[in-house]
Amino acid sequence: MCFSDLSAELSIVNCSKISFLPILMRFLVQSGFLNQHEDHYFLTPASRLLAKNEPFNVRSLLLANHSPVFSKAWSELSDWFRNDSPTPFYTAHGKSVWDYIGEEQPSVLGDIFNDALASDSRLNTNVLITECKHVFEGLTSLVDVGGGTGTVSIAIAKAFPNIKCTVLDLPQVIGDLKGSGNLDFIGGDMFDKIPHANAILLKCVLHDWNDEDCVKILKKCRESIPSKEEGGKVIIIDTVLEDPKQSNEFVQAQHNMDMLMMVLCAAKERTKKEWEKLFIEVGFNEYKIIPALGLRSLIEIYP
Ligand SMILES: C[S@@+](CC[C@H](N)C(=O)[O-])C[C@H]1O[C@@H](n2cnc3c(N)ncnc32)[C@H](O)[C@@H]1O
Repeated sequence: MCFSDLSAELSIVNCSKISFLPILMRFLVQSGFLNQHEDHYFLTPASRLLAKNEPFNVRSLLLANHSPVFSKAWSELSDWFRNDSPTPFYTAHGKSVWDYIGEEQPSVLGDIFNDALASDSRLNTNVLITECKHVFEGLTSLVDVGGGTGTVSIAIAKAFPNIKCTVLDLPQVIGDLKGSGNLDFIGGDMFDKIPHANAILLKCVLHDWNDEDCVKILKKCRESIPSKEEGGKVIIIDTVLEDPKQSNEFVQAQHNMDMLMMVLCAAKERTKKEWEKLFIEVGFNEYKIIPALGLRSLIEIYP
């Protein structure tokens, strides 16, 4: 795309502002976001992730993380360290992130947030059901706890027709979602009741909660699955935090997410040792970490 196409596409009608476009474009080229050849600009792998017509775009992740609602929570971080509020998000908005999303009318942030989670799941679901196929083989039922609008479960249900998949999430997230075939949706609270199944999936759920709440959630999971001998297990997909002294982009992204979890939920990403401590506290005797999903790992824990 060249300058004249760009100003038309961006509907810039005030001619004096067109002269500022080169500043923006050279910044985007310099930061590796666009490639330039003569007076034409091209997407790079990074900017392709934000293009509307790319099937694996993660636009809504960026929109949610830079929304005014989230930004206000970041700006309260320093006050939160000194006040009694449960989270920086609570300091900013007077309620938890889940209550904010549930009560917001019309649902603006909620829609972006659910879409952001779905787009994140789309990115690694293929790897999950191909590279980690063995994790699901032999299962007959699975509950995807905090499964959002079901992106992962829809893929699992399709790839493994013998597994009866149930997505459990808050009623306002499940809304009118209806399952079919071997897929079902249930609105409920994971702290109250988790339906019985061979396996429980917790993808990007435990990093939203402090250790005390994680123990409560994992105890509920344990009550809902059979013994290891009868095929019971919990499958966790979450970050296993690397040493912050490593300075590559991968580790940097994990630590950015660690900060975001603190700001939104007073929660955190966990190191291998911190995960192990949780599992032992709940009485899970054995665990296996498979580092197969980019920033995140798949952890199988057995009762
Ligand atoms: C970070 S999102 C992860 C969503 C999905 N597993 C994924 O990876 O895309 C956490 C999910 O937990 C859900 N959640 C929060 N509190 C819950 C509760 N008490 N019971 C059930 N789900 C809950 C949220 O609505 C949200 O969909």
